Amino acid sequence: MGATGLTIGVFDSGFGGLTVLRELLPLVAGSHCVYLGDTARLPYGSKSRETIVRYALSSARFLQRQGAQLLVVACNTATALALEDLRAALPIPVVGVIQPGVEAAVTACREVGTAGEVLVLATQATVESHAYARACATLALKATEKACPLLVPLVEEGWICEGTLDEETPGEDGGASDAARAFVTAQVLRIYLGEALRDAPESRALLLGCTHYPLLRTEIERTLAELGRPLRVIDSAQATARAVERVLSEQGMARGDRADVGDATCEFFATDSVQKFERLGPRFLGRPVGKVQLVDLGG
Ligand code: DGL
Repeated sequence: MGATGLTIGVFDSGFGGLTVLRELLPLVAGSHCVYLGDTARLPYGSKSRETIVRYALSSARFLQRQGAQLLVVACNTATALALEDLRAALPIPVVGVIQPGVEAAVTACREVGTAGEVLVLATQATVESHAYARACATLALKATEKACPLLVPLVEEGWICEGTLDEETPGEDGGASDAARAFVTAQVLRIYLGEALRDAPESRALLLGCTHYPLLRTEIERTLAELGRPLRVIDSAQATARAVERVLSEQGMARGDRADVGDATCEFFATDSVQKFERLGPRFLGRPVGKVQLVDLGG
């Protein structure tokens, strides 16, 4: 438990949700954040609604058992398919990533002075749910949703790079270099973005509707520029963190103005691949994750 006595549970199907935790930590000083990556059952994005709801409920209940007083569903797919079930099943506030992301998109569209059209990149399940299109429609924003199923595995494998891309350079062991791997990801992105832009000629903003995609942001912006469509890129992580701050304050759970509470503390759990989590997690969180504890939530 943190200095404020507040415990916040955050879950994702993997470690992509750490991009949300990263934005949240500075806003919840003194609290204790328990993060669960349901890595054994990832990806959620290619599963049916029934399965996603079942996985999301068991992940949420685990965090509740760890003392969570507020739950952040740091997964677009779980938010799209299971948010209402989670809210109905849990006696604590539940914050998802879609509404905050859509509100951020509305602001961005206003700033670039458009009639309100946004391109949303997401997993197959999120796109098929049309959760983004519905949430956008309530705010008079037209959304074109594009499924990009290859991006999660590429990010999970760490095939990303901030530097120059090189198709040819071999790695030190004679295998493919990081740059060569990143080149593959760039080609995949080029195909997805080319198709999406063709279907959404009026869009001026692009919403990253999957927690893994912020890791590709630089590459997405570079590709958009190369394709002659430099859309404003929106990441829902920051907006979600602010939504959590708002809910805490509405519920009287905020820390108030105490300056002595110290940084938020973190504890990490995963249902599989803890070493991979420990290795790749820092890329998502922007700082070391330390020891990740293995937990078995069943099938
Ligand atoms: N966390 C998921 C999302 O944000 C992506 C990974 C998955 O498909 O499980 O949609």
